[in-house]
Amino acid sequence: MRVLILGKSGQVSRELARLSWPGQIDVFQLGRDACDFSSPSTIASAIEPIAPDFVINAAAYTAVDRAESEPGLAMAINGDAPTEIARICERIGAALAHISTDYVFDGRKAGAYVEDDPVCPLSVYGRTKEAGEGGIRSNMARYVIVRTSWVFAGHGANFVKTMLRLGAERPELRVVADQHGAPTSARDIAQTLQKMVLARADGRGAWGTFHFTSREPTTWYGFAKAINEGVGFASPPKMTPITTAEYPTPAARPANSVLDCSRIQQEFGIFQPSWRDALSNVLAEVKMG
Ligand SMILES: NC(=O)c1ccc[n+]([C@@H]2O[C@H](COP(=O)([O-])OP(=O)(O)OC[C@H]3O[C@@H](n4cnc5c(N)ncnc54)[C@H](OP(=O)(O)O)[C@@H]3O)[C@@H](O)[C@H]2O)c1
Repeated sequence: MRVLILGKSGQVSRELARLSWPGQIDVFQLGRDACDFSSPSTIASAIEPIAPDFVINAAAYTAVDRAESEPGLAMAINGDAPTEIARICERIGAALAHISTDYVFDGRKAGAYVEDDPVCPLSVYGRTKEAGEGGIRSNMARYVIVRTSWVFAGHGANFVKTMLRLGAERPELRVVADQHGAPTSARDIAQTLQKMVLARADGRGAWGTFHFTSREPTTWYGFAKAINEGVGFASPPKMTPITTAEYPTPAARPANSVLDCSRIQQEFGIFQPSWRDALSNVLAEVKMG
């Protein structure tokens, strides 16, 4: 079986490349240099020569705030490109694993979101990711869309890296404490995608939309505290919880983006990992440089 990973230097795409795959699987990977999502009409010529059986799309426009001022580019990469990839996959007989986001929801639900809850994104980024989901659903049958949240890794741009930098520079960290979600490591997402691809290739599991995040939802403040405690700064910054209103950003974010992950457990036997364990591994990785 031939598996093609789209995305090379991203948090999840790098972790996908680090996984070891069974010997009968040939893995290919294309970065932006070879497959540029901002011009979706060029994607076919990059994918088709590889003749993949399964495409894993880990590439996206992920700058949530910048997307507010670049809606056209964000829509090309997150909406039009996945739609085009779905058409290509359907034409060449490939299946697709695609990553989406908790930011398709508006955060007004009291409990955890299930896959069939109505989406209502608050931001340009969320709307473009919703468009990508829709483009896949209406153009192919053999797909898994995996919505995840608050992705972190030892590499790339993410909240853990930001807190490590600011914690070393500032005496006080003021962090939003009224947005609820689940930090999820890029490695856990990569392992989950791999399990899903191998299961589907073997006739196990199901096609469709799934939620996958760590267990034990928290807030950005709760996550920042755990990072602060885990890293052991020489002079730890004072941690101050603040409200979303006290930290205005160009893009609105949902107050609750906790995802119910029962479906992926039932269909694939995939359980929610602990973000605390993943954070320890990531902090150790960052320390080792
Ligand atoms: N980050 C989060 O907190 C978060 C939360 C929920 C869901 N997600 C979703 O999880 C997935 C993976 O996110 P991530 O955090 O791993 O992303 P990331 O670290 O920001 O990496 C983005 C990836 O997208 C690729 N990319 C960007 N623009 C491109 C273009 N014009 N053409 C082709 N490739 C392009 C980059 O390519 P190069 O390798 O060539 O630079 C890179 O591999 C995305 O679908 C994202 O929407 C992320």
